[in-house]
Amino acid sequence: MRVQRLTGLFGAEILGADIRDPAQFDAIRDAFVEHSVITLRDQHISPDDHLAFARRFGAINVNRFFTPLDTHPEIALVVKEADQTGAVGEAWHTDHAYDAEPALGSILHGIDIPPHGGDTVFCSTVAAHDALSDRFKRMLEGLHAWHSSRHVFGTENREADSSRTGRIGNAHLATQDVLHPVVIRHPLSGRRSLFVNPQFTTRIDGLSEIESRHILAALFEHCQKPEFQARVRWQPGDVTMWDNRATWHKAINDYHGFRREMHRITVEGCPLEPA
Ligand code: SIN
Repeated sequence: MRVQRLTGLFGAEILGADIRDPAQFDAIRDAFVEHSVITLRDQHISPDDHLAFARRFGAINVNRFFTPLDTHPEIALVVKEADQTGAVGEAWHTDHAYDAEPALGSILHGIDIPPHGGDTVFCSTVAAHDALSDRFKRMLEGLHAWHSSRHVFGTENREADSSRTGRIGNAHLATQDVLHPVVIRHPLSGRRSLFVNPQFTTRIDGLSEIESRHILAALFEHCQKPEFQARVRWQPGDVTMWDNRATWHKAINDYHGFRREMHRITVEGCPLEPA
């Protein structure tokens, strides 16, 4: 297999791999830990193959809110029909940040890819942390932030686009509010990473509302610099796996009039330790 970097800081595309082959797993896992986002091109796999690959990383974290595949409840359907306007995952976020044990990673399989557009963009929260000034890094040490599912998936999200109907549900299950360190020690790589994101992080604990809002805004603006981004352009059959403890991502909704269907599996993580 050939691993080609996507940018100078993170992300890689992997050519000539087969995720069904257990003998290739260690090399794929090493690439995942090193690059945070890996796109394995040209995988001819079934949902069962997708699940078997995910289970080599750990137990499956079944998403409470996404509509699952009829045949495989562990696989979330990420779909935008040709006549829908809103896409799932348009805001910068980290999957399952609202869980007490946030997901290790997510594995997205491209099933139906529009002829143009529909990329996924990633941001490295490790690279973003590295680039902060030493004074600011010291100020963040010891801080914890609240993350919630309520305002995104719960009944209090009055802005939820009606085109989400049929794709996102179970609003009554959106009851998660958890505290995580603002700077974590990555459980696999040992690197420091910012664990706050624009969609699910609601507040830094122990600060005033104004202090929390401005520090989060500064971190969010900093993380969104193009220098810390990598963009995946999908081809049918691609499998992209991202590290939820080292990245944010967002789906680019620029393919109106075309259908896009992806299958997503999320792998369980662990409690996060401060750096
Ligand atoms: C997601 O946010 O999990 C989906 C990303 C995408 O559809 O590109």
